[in-house]
Amino acid sequence: MAKACIKAIGADRIGMRLSPYGAFNGMVPDADMNVLYEKLTTELNKLGIAYVHIVDHSSMGAPPVSPELKDSIRKIFKGTYILSGGYDLNRANADLAANKGDLVAFGRPFISNPDLVEKLKTGTPLATPDMSTFYTPGEKGYTDY
Ligand SMILES: Cc1cc2nc3c(=O)[nH]c(=O)nc-3n(C[C@H](O)[C@H](O)[C@H](O)COP(=O)(O)O)c2cc1C
Repeated sequence: MAKACIKAIGADRIGMRLSPYGAFNGMVPDADMNVLYEKLTTELNKLGIAYVHIVDHSSMGAPPVSPELKDSIRKIFKGTYILSGGYDLNRANADLAANKGDLVAFGRPFISNPDLVEKLKTGTPLATPDMSTFYTPGEKGYTDY
C-alpha cells in the first residue's frame, strides 16, 4: 500500500500511523509484536516516507507500547517521528527534549480545545473532552466546545 501511494504522490507526501499494542475490537498483542513493527519500520525507512506517527493507546485502556519498541523505531526510522497518546504539554516537552521523537501529536485535547495551540502557549487551562460524545454522529462534542 505504501508503495502504491508513493507511486501516486511521492514518498515525501506519505506518512504512516502505527498502533502497536492496540486493543481495538478485541485485538491482543502477540509475542512477535516488537519484531514485526521493527521489520515494518525498517521497510518503511527504505521507502523514504516522510513520517512515522506512533500512537500509544494506554491512556485509552490498551496495553502500553513497550518503551523498547518506541526507542527502536526512533533508531531505525530516519524521517520525522511523531509521538502521540495521552500527552500533555509537560510530557510532550520532556519527550522532545529527550529526543524520543521529533513532534508530538494531540488528539482528545484538540477536540475539546480548538484553540489548543494558543492555550498551550499562554498556559490557559484546557477544557475537558466529553467522552460520551466520541464516535457519535452530529456536531455535539466536535464543534460546540
Ligand atoms: C473521537 C476519536 C476518533 C478517533 N479516530 C481515529 C482514527 O480514525 N484513526 C486513528 O488512527 N486514531 C483515531 N483516534 C485516536 C487518536 O488519533 C489518538 O491516537 C488518541 O486519541 C490518543 O491521543 P490523545 O491521548 O492525544 O487523545 C481517535 C480518537 C478519538 C477520541
